[in-house]
Amino acid sequence: MCGIVGYIGTRHAAPLLMQGLRRLEYRGYDSAGIATLENGSLFCERSVGHIDALKEKIGDQRPEGTIGLAHTRWATHGGVSEKNAHPHRACNDSLVIVHNGIIENYRELRAELQATHTFTSDTDSEVLAHLIEVEYQGDLRHAVARALKKVRGTYGVVVMHASEPERLIAARMGSPLVIGMGKGEYFVASDATPLLPYTKDVTYLDDGEIAELRRGEVRIYDLLEQSVQKNIHHIEWDDEQAQKQGYSHFMLKEIFEQPIVFRDAVRGRKIPEEGTAYLGGLNMSEPQMRAVSRVLFVACGTAYHAGMIGKYAFERLARIPCEVEVASEFRYRDCVLDENTLVFAISQSGETADTLAAVREARRKGAIVRGIVNVVGSTIARETDGGTYIHAGPELAVASTKAFTNMVAVILLYALQFGRLKHMSLAAGQEFLQAHFDISTKMEEVLQQNDEVARIAQRYVHYRDFLFLGRGINYPVALEGSLKLKEISYIHSEAYPAGEMKHGVNALLGPELPVLAVMTKNQLYEKMRSNVEEVRARGSKVILIATEGDTDARAIADDVIFVPQTIEALEPLLNTIPLQLFAYHVATLLGRDVDRPRNLAKSVTVE
Ligand code: F6R
Repeated sequence: MCGIVGYIGTRHAAPLLMQGLRRLEYRGYDSAGIATLENGSLFCERSVGHIDALKEKIGDQRPEGTIGLAHTRWATHGGVSEKNAHPHRACNDSLVIVHNGIIENYRELRAELQATHTFTSDTDSEVLAHLIEVEYQGDLRHAVARALKKVRGTYGVVVMHASEPERLIAARMGSPLVIGMGKGEYFVASDATPLLPYTKDVTYLDDGEIAELRRGEVRIYDLLEQSVQKNIHHIEWDDEQAQKQGYSHFMLKEIFEQPIVFRDAVRGRKIPEEGTAYLGGLNMSEPQMRAVSRVLFVACGTAYHAGMIGKYAFERLARIPCEVEVASEFRYRDCVLDENTLVFAISQSGETADTLAAVREARRKGAIVRGIVNVVGSTIARETDGGTYIHAGPELAVASTKAFTNMVAVILLYALQFGRLKHMSLAAGQEFLQAHFDISTKMEEVLQQNDEVARIAQRYVHYRDFLFLGRGINYPVALEGSLKLKEISYIHSEAYPAGEMKHGVNALLGPELPVLAVMTKNQLYEKMRSNVEEVRARGSKVILIATEGDTDARAIADDVIFVPQTIEALEPLLNTIPLQLFAYHVATLLGRDVDRPRNLAKSVTVE
């Protein structure tokens, strides 16, 4: 996730900004840049790679000035390159910006500006710099306010102008910014981490607010440029707590980020009026897409579970035969592939050795190979001939959570896009998107039950085995819940499609084996309910994930976690969250190292 830091005061800005960038490194980044201002002249330097590379690039240039801004970039629009790194300048080199977020209408804006402005990057952010330049008539705050009215999307933006060395302008819509209140100096940053060595008194900008930071004061305005009064908060966090933004672990923070990163994954990729989605990175024409006769997902671990959900979704929505295979098996199997087989390699890190080997094998055999990847510029992203970034931002906890939901989010949009090119009607596509519209709000509702899940976890923490059950599209959800529990709590658990129980696993049931079952209201509800009743009859405790309003659920379970109703294809996006929370709470109650579980690595680059 990109990071921002800005400074105005009486001290030499560059060392403070460089130190701020280092403190933002934990967010993950692929390039960095800095700009300072002295005597009406802007110094600006950018570099791909680590902060040290930027430091080397600056060399002995000695950027002067007591005002400046800096950025670490995690690429979204435009590849990883120096020209795409921030800060971005407008045409006349007087104005410089750093930006987090996504400008959704940047293509239209860029097309309008292109006749009179020269663009030097592929980013959506640069468009904002030119827009502000167009609006600039000697007052930077007015120019920013006017430009932002034309923008659709999200931003945390900080702007500096060579003619106005006495102020920095910052604005927020959907992408956090916090202002640090020093003595005669002010900081602005994407989170509190870079500010903490200098001040613990902060003001959080809210959406639609613009801040003007001067050496003697900070003023905050709304988009109509009316003054807004804000409270100052005193932060008690130390560094590590600040990086976790108050959450006790990165895993919990990442679970709670799911509604936000889900919005990032789908933003600008839906076309409601046509009832479809558009994932441009696929790099396939419509006739090529229609010619796809088979889809194959290859992945490992959690990403494999996302692929399993993809199989259900692709066959249901797109009516294309679909398979999913663990990459370590696929690479050594004599898989039959042809030029009409579309292989999706799914990977958070983009570096998993088995998935990468599967990509190479599939390409060798002539299949169409695309990536569904989180880390921009990673090997799988580079070695596939296109695909989609899931925009989950850096995932620091070893156990994957938000990347999983965003993989599913992207796969579902692909299923819709293919479906609309084949059998799916406009009405069905629109109905899907209608249900899709409030998923992030529903995710927030699920997260509100965190305390209740923690209480339930307390009651079950002493068990040594668990069984997870699901059916249909919720079977992979059960698998994912089971994997989460195993990897961070070290408790043995298994997951089964509930209809398979009679064929052996029923023998395990009894008071020593609690069962977590996903029994939401979908076409398999009645079947699942019978399975749950059978489990209960054999003496196992039952924890249910059930749909809000299902009054029968409590009667057949010991504990119930309710989730909002949605259409079946979207259920995994909600139903996985309580299982992630359950695993998290059990593991913390057992005192496990939740973010760094034993024997596991975040990126498995060896076979
Ligand atoms: C589980 C987990 C792993 C990864 C797997 C694939 O929480 O994180 O199972 O999903 O190692 O990793 P990526 O997605 O980076 O290819």
